[in-house]
This record gives sequence, C-alpha cells and structure tokens, in this order.
Amino acid sequence: MAMIAKQCPDIPVHVVDVNASRVAQWNSSELPVYEPGLQEVVEEARGRNLTFSTDVEGAIREANLIFISVNTPTKTFGVGAGRAANLEFVEKCARRIAECSTGHKVVVEKSTLPVRTAEAIARILQSSATNATFDVLSNPEFLAEGTAVQDLLNPDRVLIGGESPQAVEQLVAVYSRWIPREKILTTNVWSSELSKLTANAFLAQRVSSINAISALCEATGANVDEVARAIGTDSRIGPKFLKASVGFGGSCFQKDILNLVYLCEHFGLTEVAKYWEQVVVMNDYQKRRFSSRIVRTMFHTVSDKKIAIWGFAFKKDTNDTRESAAITVCRDLLEEHARLTIYDPRVSEQQVRSVLEGVFKDAAGVVSERHRQLLRDHVTVVSDPYTATDRAHAIAVLTEWDEFKSLDMQRVLDGMHRPAFVFDGRNILDPARLTSLGFEVHSIGRA
Ligand code: UDX
Repeated sequence: MAMIAKQCPDIPVHVVDVNASRVAQWNSSELPVYEPGLQEVVEEARGRNLTFSTDVEGAIREANLIFISVNTPTKTFGVGAGRAANLEFVEKCARRIAECSTGHKVVVEKSTLPVRTAEAIARILQSSATNATFDVLSNPEFLAEGTAVQDLLNPDRVLIGGESPQAVEQLVAVYSRWIPREKILTTNVWSSELSKLTANAFLAQRVSSINAISALCEATGANVDEVARAIGTDSRIGPKFLKASVGFGGSCFQKDILNLVYLCEHFGLTEVAKYWEQVVVMNDYQKRRFSSRIVRTMFHTVSDKKIAIWGFAFKKDTNDTRESAAITVCRDLLEEHARLTIYDPRVSEQQVRSVLEGVFKDAAGVVSERHRQLLRDHVTVVSDPYTATDRAHAIAVLTEWDEFKSLDMQRVLDGMHRPAFVFDGRNILDPARLTSLGFEVHSIGRA
C-alpha cells in the first residue's frame, strides 16, 4: 500500500488495522518490520496520501477499492489442522466490509488464499444488510522479503483475477501507473488464486530438489554449488533458486504447499497431494540432517558445548523468523543440551526467546520445566558475532547475512576451542581460506 501511495500521489491510501499499537508503529520512525528501503517509501507518502489508523469503519465507507491483507495462518485446530488455511480473519474482514459499505465497492483479496475463497467472500458481501454492491478480485502478492521494495517497484508480473472487466480495469489502472501494461496479467479468479500457491510450490520445490542433491553430494564427493552452476546454465532450468541451504523458511512456502496438499486431498487427488507434500518432507529432512551432522561431527556429543549461532532470521535482510530453519536447528541442539549463543543483526533477544519457547510448547501450549530450564540456562542472545564465538566449540551459520562474509576470522578463531568447527548452513564462507586459518569446515553439499 505504501508503494501504491508513493507511485500514485493523487490516490488517497488509508491503511487500517484493529491493532492500535501496530498502527502507532507504522506512524512512527520505527516501522514494525525491517525491510530495506521501506522507511523511505513510507516517509515519502505518509501524511501526503498515505495514512495509518484504526478507523476501520470510516476507511471502508470512503473507499472505492478495499484490499483485504490479513494473515491466513495454517489452521492449528479442527478439520484440516496443520494444513488448511485459517480463514477466520478474512471472513471477519468480509463481514465488516459488508456491514459498513454503501454504494459500489471493489474488494481485492491480497492475502494468499486457497482457491475458491473469493467465492466465499463474495457470498458474505452479497448478504450485506445495506444495499451496497460488490465485485471481488484476486490480486496475489509475489514480493519476497528483504527485496520487497525492489520487487514492488519492478515486479516480474502483477496478477489480477476477476470476473467483472470494469472492476479488473480499475485495479489495472492503479498498477499501470508504474508497471508496463504487458506485465499485468489478468485471469479468472480461480487461476489467480491457484497461481500464487503454485508459484510458491515450484520455488520451494527447486530448493528441496537442490537440497536433496546436496545430501548425495556430501555422500559422494561432488560439490553442490558446482552442480547448481552446471545445471543452472541450462536455459531451461535457469540459475535462480538453486542455492542449497539448511532448509527453506518464511511465512509462505510451507504454508502454501500444505494448503495445496489439503486442496488436492479434498478433491481426492491422493498422488498429487503426496507429490507436493514431499517438498516439505525433504525440507524437514534437510534441517534435521544439518543438526545431526553437527552432533555426529563433534564426536557424537554437544552436551554442555558452546555453539555460536550466526543468524536466526529465515533469510538475510529481514527480521522475520517465521518457519526459519534456525528454529529447528536450535531446538535439536538444545535437546542435545548444547549451550547456544545466538547472534542475528536484526532479530531481538525477546523475539528469539519467544520463538524458541513456542517450539517447546506441547499440544496444550505448556512448556515443560526441563525445557524452561534449557531456555534459561542454555540460551544466550548477544549483540555481536565475536561475543557469540568467544570460547565456543563450533559456529553454525544459519542465515546468509552479508556481514558474516567479512568478519575477522582470525580473531574469531583465537577466541574458540580446538578443533574449531564451522558448520556453514548457507555456504557463504570460503572453506579453503577458513581451513588454512585452522578451522574445520563443514558446508552443505560438500564431502
Ligand atoms: C516467497 C516467494 O519468493 C514470494 O514470491 C512470495 O510472495 C512469498 O514467499 P519469501 O518467503 O519472502 O518469498 O522468501 P524467498 O526469497 O522466496 O526465500 C524463501 C526461503 O527459501 C528462505 O528461507 C531462503 O533462504 C530459502 N532459499 C531460497 C534457499 O534456501 N535457496 C534458494 O536458492 C532460494
């Protein structure tokens, strides 16, 4: 919305949220998310044609176009728990819009939704007690975190699904202010919704595919980065999204694949469901494989050993930790009674602690006394990478932050126990250089 406001100074954009403290953050100089370049975009438009408030009703009444951008987490209860999307928040939004609207509104679903949700939204809107009328469009977002501003400024494509040509045209008119018309694709609503799930499933599949090969490389002596380069130069395969890693994370990949799996099962397509589910199975395996390799390499025990964790976010240039591979790896190492010293340039101590506490909750939401003790006595969160490695037995690189590439590794080594192990879950450090300094380096997809 900030980008639309920036690019279309004559269009008033009103962002509303029921969470007053979140709104206050958007109105301050400390935005609630870290995203390179976003502060500037917000500051350019805020107070001109971009406002943030809790006046949900007022904003609905005045708007021509209404974007529903609430979260659609995986259901944790009831039918489809662990797979299906929880559409509670979307439905609540639609009901609120139905109550407050007059005249004609175009409602745009921006949240990622399983196919055929637009139909549900349309039915709720049509049951409005007022005499308002509605068109519903699907407009999934393809930006990636860490590069959001660039992705929004110059997207590969914008996708708009809708039945009403007038409504579609209204939204096309907004985007075409800065995006070439040929990059704005229009489809029917279901294709648009399904395309978002499919795009994320294909991207995640590439990562799981290269990660599967990384296991084979480790066993055979091939180098996964060389394999990735060799296959990526085939123009039919292409070079992007072939970086072997400790596993993919983020709010979208796993959630969207599980949604796709649920959808396939719902339609009785068991083999299709299993096919896609394997992408998530492989990712879980990759994360587990990484933590087991650490334990195995460190003489089959990490109990009471200090392990520096470099990076906790699910990728660089974001403070988002949702589904981060670091969570699983830290959990596994804590279960082995390792002592973790965690450093991430953007993730706060409070965030790290609450995420790790979350991972130890049982089905009833209770953290056992044993896990509480581990969290209290075995987790330290520090504010620089050198402190993290001081008297450590090993370093695990879990996020590919640029700053990790230019640290004084001699200084790091001097502070560590020997053998000084490095487990590079992102293959960003130079193994030859580190080995010559005296580290013992283990990276992904190399023997
Ligand atoms: C993704 C999609 O890219 C985006 O289009 C969609 O709108 C939302 O989901 P995002 O989750 O922000 O975006 O990050 P992305 O860059 O796709 O990375 C996802 C995960 O895959 C990260 O953990 C990343 O580290 C990992 N990854 C990515 C790899 O391990 N290897 C790669 O080659 C690429």
